[in-house]
Amino acid sequence: MKVLSIVGARPQFVKAGIVSRELRKKEIKEIFVHTGQHYDFNMSEVFFKELQLPKPDYYLGIGSGLHGEQTGKMLIEIEKVLLKEKPDIVLVYGDTNSTLAGALASAKLHIPVAHVEAGLRSFNKKMPEEINRVLTDHISKFLFAPTEIAVENLKREGITEGVYNVGDVMYDIALESIEKIDEQEVLDKYNLKSKKFILTTIHRAENTDSRENLTNIMEALKEIANQGMKIIFPIHPRTKKAVERYNIDLKAENLLAVEPVSYFEMLVLEKNAKVIITDSGGVQKEGYFFRTPCIIPRNETEWVELIDIGFNTLTGAKKEKITYATLKEFYSHKEIKKYNIYGDGKASRKIVEIIISHENYMDNK
Ligand code: UD1
Ligand code: UDP
Repeated sequence: MKVLSIVGARPQFVKAGIVSRELRKKEIKEIFVHTGQHYDFNMSEVFFKELQLPKPDYYLGIGSGLHGEQTGKMLIEIEKVLLKEKPDIVLVYGDTNSTLAGALASAKLHIPVAHVEAGLRSFNKKMPEEINRVLTDHISKFLFAPTEIAVENLKREGITEGVYNVGDVMYDIALESIEKIDEQEVLDKYNLKSKKFILTTIHRAENTDSRENLTNIMEALKEIANQGMKIIFPIHPRTKKAVERYNIDLKAENLLAVEPVSYFEMLVLEKNAKVIITDSGGVQKEGYFFRTPCIIPRNETEWVELIDIGFNTLTGAKKEKITYATLKEFYSHKEIKKYNIYGDGKASRKIVEIIISHENYMDNK
């Protein structure tokens, strides 16, 4: 059996990291395609090194661009690879332009698509990710959903065949990786003390493409920092460019803006932060894995179960709401019940087993 995996952006390297290892354990041939959507060292290569991902068999070098341009270039190049490699199945992850391009190119060539992290919905069609996930789900043969809510979302859209609630592959890899890291070393590097700081990441289009939203969020961060709370802010290149474009002043005594950090460092920061302020999907979940609550400067989230249990808080990009919610969490000592929302840490193993059993079924037909 030949599996072809398509990745391109930071969260996909993390997700593919663990699935790819499972494929290798079962000695399944995997062709690894990197679209080049993310290309800076600390947005791409650092993940390959840390997670010991296979060197891409194909690096398409697409880079940044407008949605149509970026997705279109990917389609052209991915199709060429698919025609040459003729895989039995294509694996795509999450909801980026690389996901949609990979799924679309494959489906048109009648190659079965397996979507890891299927069924997520924000119900906001203005988000590019929402368009990518809905379309990908509707052309996938295998839909690996991380939660029961994701399964329900698919059912509502009439998708019931090929749907498997396997749990979340990000949980698998976070559990495994945190064991390998010297946490104190990372805290010392950034001069941080456990549970005495706040972690922030911002990169969503709705926040970076809006001067008003980004200004509000940055004002909230400065307000919180000025009240004596230390904040570490690994800044996504998109956000860095927006901060410069809008001339936003990020200087505040306790606000430490740094380049994007590696995955292992990020896990340590998430685990040891008292509160996280983030609009990232992956970081919301990882916060929960380590029981660190997130304040989300958005109006909706795909990870609604964490809102429903009162763990995470949606504030919108509103300065006062972000500041209030963050300070409230910072000083609270709430007991956090253990809910096993994201599976048992074996999602990647289940995905590979399902793919193998399908192959056996096809062989016997
Ligand atoms: C993309 C995904 C988003 C995901 C995020 C993870 C889409 C539509 N969006 O958003 O779902 O949450 O990745 O981080 O696919 N840039 C660099 N260096 C890089 C990469 C990007 O400087 O290595 C800058 C470029 O100016 C680029 C901008 O960041 O134009 C945005 O990059 P892009 O990949 O288009 O979208 P993200 O915001 O990263
Ligand atoms: N991440 C990282 N370094 C950073 C910021 C994020 O390693 O500086 C990791 C994070 O731990 C998670 C993934 O990147 O595994 C999330 O990616 P991102 O927030 O870019 O995208 P999203 O999950 O919102 O699609």
